[in-house]
Amino acid sequence: MPQLAIETSCDDTCAAVLDGPRVLSNVISSQAIHEKYGGVVPEVASRHHLELAVPVVEAALAGAGAGFDDLDSVAVTAGPGLIGALLVGLSTAKAIAAPRRLPLIPTDHLHGHVAANFLEPDPIEPPFLCLIASGGHTMLAGVRDHRGFEVLGETLDDAAGEAIDKAARLLGLGFPGGPALEKLASTGDPGAFDFPVAMSRDPGLGFSFSGLKTALVYLCRDLGEEGTVERAPDLAAGFQAAVVDQLATKVRRALDAEAWPAVALGGGVAANGPLREAVASLCEQRGIPFKQVSRELCTDNAAMIGSAARYSEPLAYPEYLGFDAFATGPRGSR
Ligand code: KG4
Ligand code: ZN
Repeated sequence: MPQLAIETSCDDTCAAVLDGPRVLSNVISSQAIHEKYGGVVPEVASRHHLELAVPVVEAALAGAGAGFDDLDSVAVTAGPGLIGALLVGLSTAKAIAAPRRLPLIPTDHLHGHVAANFLEPDPIEPPFLCLIASGGHTMLAGVRDHRGFEVLGETLDDAAGEAIDKAARLLGLGFPGGPALEKLASTGDPGAFDFPVAMSRDPGLGFSFSGLKTALVYLCRDLGEEGTVERAPDLAAGFQAAVVDQLATKVRRALDAEAWPAVALGGGVAANGPLREAVASLCEQRGIPFKQVSRELCTDNAAMIGSAARYSEPLAYPEYLGFDAFATGPRGSR
């Protein structure tokens, strides 16, 4: 029997239908409205989720050739994320599950990014090391079983995606900045400017991206408006190379610290080509398998939530009616 999964933790309204690890449909509606603000406006995101939740769920069911009465459970992101946005997804999930007395499976968003790696085709089995790099989080996760993960190290300030989005904004690119920055960087020289590779001498597994962002602010200030436009490809290339260098360096350090038998990636920044290449070559040097999920499964989606739900605690009706979403902090399966 198929399972419905819903994800609304940030600005993407997502629904998917799964049959175990098989994705039958995966619908993602990105809210373009935030582009004009240069970032996600939480209240605007919630209101758009309200408008989009029903059509997105209906599109996911239609794509899977299923109806509401075919479902055996409803999985939903409970947190972390924007609280208003999460509440829309959670209320939608309850409204679908409760009248049918279906179990509800509250799921952790970051567990979802890890669990994208458990989906078909070619699912990976724990244990493995997973770098999660998104707009809200950057961490190294030690995945020892399907049910969760251990945080081995995380960012001390900005998330990698957050820094990338800020850099993209400084360079006059749209939001979200990742894909546009990657495209512009491919035409530039990564060695043209000196960007600090933060935390390179730090022996731990933490990350820091705020210094890198400040370095770009100063470079743009020194170049002036016209100079920044002219040198934008080189600035993008240098900035991206510094982000990728830091992420890959910490993956290498985690592999030095513990003999992980495989490496995987998760989160929107994992869609970045140069990052994938850097981690692939690191794994090749060490003879370790490297699992790469499709780019669509790296950025926020509901299929990953359905995957994590397979290893999360279902709540029976009516137990979940008072269940609340959570904005931050470890709760759920971690
Ligand atoms: O996982 P995600 O979709 O949402 C969060 O949970 O935050 O990640 C979104 C982040 C954004 O910062 C976006 O700019 C970044 O992932 N991103 C990329 C690429 N595609 C998306 N960063 C670098 N290169 C990309 N190709
Ligand atoms: Zn995410």
